[in-house]
Amino acid sequence: MPSKRYTGLIDNYRDYLPVHDDTRLISLGEGKTPLIRLNNIPRLIGKDVDIYVKYEGLNPTGSFKDRGMTMAVTKAVEEGSKAIICASTGNTSAAAAAYAARAGITAFVLIPEGKIAMGKLAQAMMYGAVTLQIRGNFDEGMQLVKDVAQEAPVTIVNSINPYRLQGQKTAAFEIVEELGAAPDYHCLPVGNAGNITAHWMGYTEFQKAGIANSAPKMVGYQAAGAAPFLRGAMVDNPETVATAIRIGHPQSWDKAWNVQKESGGWFDELTDDEILQTQRMLAQSEGVFCEPASAASLGGAIRDVKSGKIPEGSKIVCTLTGNGLKDPDTAISQCQNAVMETIDAKLVSVKESILRNMQ
Ligand code: F0G
Repeated sequence: MPSKRYTGLIDNYRDYLPVHDDTRLISLGEGKTPLIRLNNIPRLIGKDVDIYVKYEGLNPTGSFKDRGMTMAVTKAVEEGSKAIICASTGNTSAAAAAYAARAGITAFVLIPEGKIAMGKLAQAMMYGAVTLQIRGNFDEGMQLVKDVAQEAPVTIVNSINPYRLQGQKTAAFEIVEELGAAPDYHCLPVGNAGNITAHWMGYTEFQKAGIANSAPKMVGYQAAGAAPFLRGAMVDNPETVATAIRIGHPQSWDKAWNVQKESGGWFDELTDDEILQTQRMLAQSEGVFCEPASAASLGGAIRDVKSGKIPEGSKIVCTLTGNGLKDPDTAISQCQNAVMETIDAKLVSVKESILRNMQ
């Protein structure tokens, strides 16, 4: 019987990716994430739409970054690199650290001090990256990385590395294969705008190959305090509770505007409250826990469905870019109304609690 072992997205999509037969693949089995159809939220908002969430938080390091990192690190190793470097709001650093460990090379990660979620910091440290906390934000870190890579023998693995987008485009391939067609709308949270660009590459590539008849309108949502695409200009001091997308100088600025124009989509923004409310709603009405930044895609889609901008009858995919466990502090701090009681270790106390809380 032929082996059915899944060995990661590069192996799965070899024909569409820049690898050779003898390329050593640096993989952790990333990709093939669940595409979950929402059952309860369309009913709650009273609209006849098909909403799917692509749960990228189930990748090996808990975010979509693994798709790009398997490609970027595979190529860095193939080209003889002994070290990689990135600036990060947390998820890229976690992925870089893990894939560097897997490859046996060094990862240097620059993160904004005090502004990355605890799970992501734990990952960078545990996977053994050299973690440089900078007294500055992501945008400053990114500039430093570009500058230092001119002088030091390190490969940049931020999404300005073209192999990153190559790996990330495979999420669109998986969606088309699973739905049997492209959706009508694809909604994503936008920071550097690499992922929205990568998805568009994937959809249009499958369209050209005759695998899909159409491509979706691409819709990008930003946090209101970090929304350069809404301001039409770079933002110098971005602020949002969704630290993953606390970015004011997107690296894929021109590419993302092209995606918006070519696909007929749009950009919009959400307040931190809207983002957090969506995160809770998704967890509590569908059982899917994503990190705050990820909830921007669904929060924006719900608003656009309610207003009719996205018409009834549409098929919508929202990317949930990262796992909720990445940021336990933000989760716990907004669950003040969660039912949590401290009781005696006695049968009667448990019984009383059940009676009190039974719905
Ligand atoms: N969602 C999450 C959870 C992210 O970590 C990021 C980016 C995005 C959305 C935005 O994706 O930049 O391609 O538009 N995180 C980067 C990082 C910046 O360093 O982990 P984008």
